[in-house]
Amino acid sequence: MTAAGDPPVEPSGSLSRRGIVAGALALAACGPRANSQPAADPALALKDFAFFPFGACVQASHLEDPAIAGLLTRHVSQITAEWEMKMEYMLLDNGGFRFDRPDRMAAFAQAHAMRLFGHALIWYAQKPVVFLEMASNPAGFAKSYDRYITAVVGRYRGRVCGWDVINEAVKDDGSALRDHMWSQSLGELDHMTRAFKVARAADPGAPLFINDYNLESVPAKLDQYQRLIERLLKAGAPLSGIGCQTHCNADLPAGALARTIAALGRFGLPVHVSEMDVSITRARGLLTPRAERETAQARLYAEAIEAFCDLPARQRFAFTVWGMRDSESWLVRENRNDAPLLFDGQGRAKAGHEAVIKALAASRKAQG
Ligand code: XIL
Repeated sequence: MTAAGDPPVEPSGSLSRRGIVAGALALAACGPRANSQPAADPALALKDFAFFPFGACVQASHLEDPAIAGLLTRHVSQITAEWEMKMEYMLLDNGGFRFDRPDRMAAFAQAHAMRLFGHALIWYAQKPVVFLEMASNPAGFAKSYDRYITAVVGRYRGRVCGWDVINEAVKDDGSALRDHMWSQSLGELDHMTRAFKVARAADPGAPLFINDYNLESVPAKLDQYQRLIERLLKAGAPLSGIGCQTHCNADLPAGALARTIAALGRFGLPVHVSEMDVSITRARGLLTPRAERETAQARLYAEAIEAFCDLPARQRFAFTVWGMRDSESWLVRENRNDAPLLFDGQGRAKAGHEAVIKALAASRKAQG
């Protein structure tokens, strides 16, 4: 996971806080990469401890910010576009495409030897004008659907490490699949199978994912998600990976994440912990002191990492966090008191970062 020319970091089994800081200082003193890091980031590099791709989401404008770009190049080996590879950015009202920002992200990934993950092709939450206008023209709708997927996947063919083809298909309570423009026009299961097949034709080499959230907190949703995966595989959809967004709250009971990641691993397909963050303001029990909620948050990050490390190596697709610094988090845009990520607004590593490093080091040691 280290870029060419980087000194390998030898993770030890049990890292004390002092050990982590000392290690970071030593790195800062001698590594060629460390010398070019902003002073605000003395933390150990996550990607050097992870024995699988470690990712983060990003927006194109973040790449121009040296502090954010520095955190990314130091800590991650994979990026996901937070929103600029969705229809809302790439598909214009007149049916044309815009690829400038996705192209910048692809170029950044290539320049820094990172993988780029494509997110997301078909998502119920997207309601593009061109498709809305075609709701009463089934043939035209289907043609445009295929054209969109073919154009987007084809453009990044060979440049992405995978795509989220279907995002958030299951209803929040897990009772059924969502009902929306895509399912109404092309069929509940058929629109998904079709998207996977068209994407496969456009990039035969890219792993194709389904992705969803609240799988760890709503058991019925996890069940429905697993049933959907079975149905898609049975219908011949070239589905080759399973995403678990892992947007969770700090009050999630211990064990839920581990059970969920293990359950998704039972399909034998690659698993992507695809968007992890841990809200401390959405959690119940807001009277609990903030420090306790932050400790719980760090534990949840560690639990997810441990469960992910427990998957067979070939199933560890990537572990992605939904942003680097709290200041850029979508949750903080909603509630400025939230702090769901591994780094604070100044780019300083939080307890969650230390917990992740420790969990990675311990898992590596346990696995020899
Ligand atoms: C969110 C982004 O973070 C926001 O910036 C955007 O406005 C809305 O989408 N699940 C997903 C992601 O699959 O695409 C969502 O990202 C977060 C929830």
